[in-house]
Amino acid sequence: MKNSNLRKAAREKNDEFYTQLVDIEKEIKNYKEYLAGKVVLCNCDDPEKSNFWKYFYMNFDLIGLKKLISTHYKPSTILDISEQAYKLEYDGKEIIRTNLRGEGDFRSEECVDILKQADVVCTNPPFSLFREYVKQLMDYEKKFLIIGNMNAITYKEVFLLIKNNKMWLGVDNNGTKWFRVPDHYDIATESRKKIENGIKFFSMGSVMWFTNLDNKKRHEDLTLGKKYNKTDYPKYDNYDAINVDKTSDIPVDYDGAMGVPITFLDKYNPDQFEIVGLGISNSGLDIGVRPYKPEHKKYRKEIQKRGAVDGDLYMMVNGEVEVPYARIIIKKK
Ligand SMILES: C[S@@+](CC[C@H](N)C(=O)[O-])C[C@H]1O[C@@H](n2cnc3c(N)ncnc32)[C@H](O)[C@@H]1O
Repeated sequence: MKNSNLRKAAREKNDEFYTQLVDIEKEIKNYKEYLAGKVVLCNCDDPEKSNFWKYFYMNFDLIGLKKLISTHYKPSTILDISEQAYKLEYDGKEIIRTNLRGEGDFRSEECVDILKQADVVCTNPPFSLFREYVKQLMDYEKKFLIIGNMNAITYKEVFLLIKNNKMWLGVDNNGTKWFRVPDHYDIATESRKKIENGIKFFSMGSVMWFTNLDNKKRHEDLTLGKKYNKTDYPKYDNYDAINVDKTSDIPVDYDGAMGVPITFLDKYNPDQFEIVGLGISNSGLDIGVRPYKPEHKKYRKEIQKRGAVDGDLYMMVNGEVEVPYARIIIKKK
């Protein structure tokens, strides 16, 4: 196989994991008012396997949906010609199955035509194509509720949407979620796999819902109980902000810029805080995070033997360079 095909196959393999009904239910119940009378599209969903299709099909009348559409992806690298990618549509009365002309790639012309008919897109898309997936939703001005990896927050384009309040996190982002995976799926860490009734599951603790549908949670204020002091909240060496290690430690009495973990977004209320930027690499440079001082860069690379990317926030702690994991810079409003 050509290298590009191998890469495609590896990616496809890692993208094959299925959301459980319980997780879908927990999230979607928060948005029923936005779904009533709407056309919902699940465009990375083999209806035979997808609980998104199952959830909307079972709750069609309860939610008051207008139409449900699901498209199935059947890539050509998998040497199985027994099945053609297809589309399933349900209007509350009958299910219509139509073969697609191509593979069911969400970016294909025929799938984009289907996207245009949808009011709300709801799925767990392939993580490897998350940037492109979100960009397409924004380009076509769609409402959406989708699952993604927490690290997607640090993608420049994704972060900008969050910063500009064009996209935010959903409600149920905490804890571990289990996903059904194909039997052949390799899972190296024992604690992250389980088999129940012969079905293999894989756990992930860092998946989040991303949406542009409003929810109550993002209007709730975060209760702040800690007071600022210089010892617990050191300043960065290369940016005028204090470092806060845990969202629950955000001091109530500090009005300047603060660097907080990306999980802060799960508690982010745009009426309470303003997002200034992301303190890593180019995103950091964009907001004025100063590049490493030469002696600190040298120390980081040669003594600590770690990456030293300009634009990353760092602190000096007892004469050593300390680089916290990705920080979002926020300010109280
Ligand atoms: C993370 S899985 C989730 C499946 C399903 N949405 C669910 O939540 O159970 C992502 C799915 O996207 C499909 N997929 C991968 N690349 C795709 C593409 N370019 N267009 C449409 N679907 C794709 C994969 O086959 C895979 O089933």
